[in-house]
Amino acid sequence: MVKAMIKKLRADEPGIPLKIQNFIGGSWVDAGDGGVFETINPARRDEVVAVVAKSTREDIDRAVQAAREAYKSWRLVPAPKRGEILFRAAEGLVREKERLGRLVTREMGKVIAEGLGDVQEAIDMAYYMAGEGRRLSGETVPSELSGKDAKSVRVPVGVFALITPWNFPTAIPAWKIFPALIAGNTVVFKPSRYSAAAASELVRIIAEAGLPDGALNLVNGPGGDVGEYLAMHPGIDGVSFTGSSAVGISLAGRLTSEGRKVSAEMGGKNAIIVMDDADLGLAVEGAIWGGFGTTGQRCTAASRVIVHKAVYKEFLERFIAAAKKLTLGDGLDPKTDVGPLVNDGQMKKVQHYIQIGVSEGARLVTGGQHCTHGELSHGYFFEPTIFADVTPDMRIAKEEIFGPVVSVIKAQDIDDAIAIANGVDYGLSAAIYTNSVNYSAKAERDIEAGIVYINASTIGAEIQLPFGGIKKSGLGGKEAGGMGGALGFFTHVKVVYRDFSGKLQKAQMD
Ligand code: UN1
Repeated sequence: MVKAMIKKLRADEPGIPLKIQNFIGGSWVDAGDGGVFETINPARRDEVVAVVAKSTREDIDRAVQAAREAYKSWRLVPAPKRGEILFRAAEGLVREKERLGRLVTREMGKVIAEGLGDVQEAIDMAYYMAGEGRRLSGETVPSELSGKDAKSVRVPVGVFALITPWNFPTAIPAWKIFPALIAGNTVVFKPSRYSAAAASELVRIIAEAGLPDGALNLVNGPGGDVGEYLAMHPGIDGVSFTGSSAVGISLAGRLTSEGRKVSAEMGGKNAIIVMDDADLGLAVEGAIWGGFGTTGQRCTAASRVIVHKAVYKEFLERFIAAAKKLTLGDGLDPKTDVGPLVNDGQMKKVQHYIQIGVSEGARLVTGGQHCTHGELSHGYFFEPTIFADVTPDMRIAKEEIFGPVVSVIKAQDIDDAIAIANGVDYGLSAAIYTNSVNYSAKAERDIEAGIVYINASTIGAEIQLPFGGIKKSGLGGKEAGGMGGALGFFTHVKVVYRDFSGKLQKAQMD
């Protein structure tokens, strides 16, 4: 089955849609009722990238059942052996990086350098977690009693549902799949319906590395339907979700009340602070990269730039000039700086927020339009957009837009800037540009966010540290990283006391 799938996928030139099946219990299978949906190239709406199996509830039941069955033996495979499989998966991803990166770009639009970066992040995670197979450390501590030892070990949780978005089609699934597997869990993975082909390729490469049947299952379909049913399935022990705050908070509430593990990585309204002593050239580059990289479609995107009043005018002029220089186009063209939005829904959302910003009295200083001319008219292209003179109470300064729209806000001093940065419901990522040790230390201490960058933009987290936010950005467990992050989430701590004294010993009393 796997071999047949590879042949189909190798024919991945534009014009020949890929056929994407579900992967259940080690077999590639159509949906039970034969249902399908399509993914398209957002740079050329007419190009169908893949025809994808649309899972039925019975398909999901079978996938959960396969994962439950596989868990019985996978949890007992020594973690270093699990690590060897992950290492081979990493090698497979390295071999296929170029192809997979291009597929990421074709299916969700990010520029090819970022498509390849997406796959590189998956590779990094695979190698990192392969190595964790030889650590997965607990603690050994002395007991207060003689003839007794005391330790903690990390044990798997069971079967996880992993639900991922389209903006990082291979990296975010890899953040979840590899730590879940190395810890001895089994997985049912439901990728976004907009990036199903790239996700399926990731699964194929991992499966080909020698994973036992049922350890990793793939079910495709829309989130509201398939994702919801999977997340709340009684056979699931935990859920790792990345997506909107509304869905994440709702899932987290329901799953927690049932005593199941949940991690929800959600939205952001990430700010860059630019102080009066900053290297303005560097700050402009950071604002461009954070605001318009991935067409602003990152949870970590810099959608607010808070600028000290002394450099506000100069920063704004240079920021606008740099935004105007960006080249829009098909992400496969290496000259392109900014690709399309992912779909019509995102286009409408961005257009809606442009109207909101204008009606709130913000000054639209560049962009603001859906591109309808020439080649760009074939895709969901939207001009890089800057609103100036935004005030912190405006909706465009508080709500996540998830597009190439940046709000520039004036601040009086460092305290004012930090207060503005913190004055939103989100707290994922933040940045400060300054050459002052004191300003940077204050920002590090006082900014309410899961990630703080100093003299770097809000995007570009590395996989060896935990990733995630506070407030409405993150609930219940971090992504990436080791025991302080993903491995902590994908394991339970079990404490073991062994008394070999042969007599009754009473802790706290003897
Ligand atoms: C996301 O924005 O959804 O730090 C993930 C970054 C990337 C991951 C972003 N490494 O921007």
